[in-house]
Amino acid sequence: MTVKRLSNKGDEAPVTTDRRNTGVMGRYASLLPLTPETPHLSLGEGATPLIEAPRLASWVGVDQLLLKCEGLNPTGSFKDRGMAVAVALAMQRGARTILCASTGNTSASAAAYAARAALAAVVLLPKGKVAEEKMAQAVIHGARILSLDTNFDGALDLARKLADEHGLALVNSVNPHRIEGQATAAYEICDALGDPPDVLALPVGNGGNITAYWLGFRRYQERGLSSALPRVVGAQAAGAAPLVLERPVPEPKTVASAIRIGRPASWDSALTAVRDSQGAILAVDDDDILHAHRQIASLEGMFCEPASAASVAGLRAAVSTDRIVPRGPCVCVLTGHGLKDAKLAWPKDFEIKELPAEMEAVTRELGL
Ligand code: F0G
Repeated sequence: MTVKRLSNKGDEAPVTTDRRNTGVMGRYASLLPLTPETPHLSLGEGATPLIEAPRLASWVGVDQLLLKCEGLNPTGSFKDRGMAVAVALAMQRGARTILCASTGNTSASAAAYAARAALAAVVLLPKGKVAEEKMAQAVIHGARILSLDTNFDGALDLARKLADEHGLALVNSVNPHRIEGQATAAYEICDALGDPPDVLALPVGNGGNITAYWLGFRRYQERGLSSALPRVVGAQAAGAAPLVLERPVPEPKTVASAIRIGRPASWDSALTAVRDSQGAILAVDDDDILHAHRQIASLEGMFCEPASAASVAGLRAAVSTDRIVPRGPCVCVLTGHGLKDAKLAWPKDFEIKELPAEMEAVTRELGL
């Protein structure tokens, strides 16, 4: 295998010539809208583990549960799959600047891939509603960050207008290349299991990821690469559940800031995924999300961000109310890493024990 060193000249795009197995573009080229001219762009995204979670399975109430650990992507969330593809195709069209609105993860990913591709990035964030760790990523990758006095929905409206009127390349999931890239997670799950799971559960905010998974599972079946389709369970936070309520939520509220969205851009395609798969869309309240967050970490050793835990809380609610009766393996997608929003790991009033650095004090405290 020849891996060429990246150019370090600032005016040259960092393009590797090895397309065989790096990133989602390397591994799933034939399923992506690439041409021979598409630059190969990768930070090593995709190929995330699908891990058995037996103790969590019994807490959720299912026989077999696997976790798709998307927090292990390069910037810590699933966004990197679609960002690699969307930014590569924007480069191909000669874009100089990419643009997104974000609750945090899209902006972190856009900033990183823009840096890698030697493009500029502009990110529009809802003021005071984005976890600091995600903003730190956008800062260090050199994005122009504008904090707007609105929520995600308002920021996305503005981003769409800016893209239309000023020709910036919009890399939100309304960009179909993002969806194509994110569909690779469905391909990976089919490849790992030999076929789709019985049930796939994931958190839903703007509706892009559920749209991408459904596209991916259908395409795999159409191409004869799998023989069935999963039931898709989408979980929204109760304070930000427009798809469950069937109406926009003007002021969405939830502790899971990544999915604090009241007017999903991919509204229809998100509901199509649920309906056509005979799945379910349901709301889980913040206490249930935080309970699942802790259970995933303490029962299985996996640390995801709160929004991601909505997948597990959602599946548990669907099963306990008999909305979903599992007949085979269930997969929950852990969409982002726990370190993305570390403050929420601390229980209220949690105190770390402080002691003198003496053997006796330590043994006494540990009851040894
Ligand atoms: N989980 C995480 C960790 C997210 O960051 C998001 C969305 C979702 C789930 C929901 O995915 O929007 O495709 O339905 N984050 C976007 C952002 C909105 O700006 O980072 P979706």
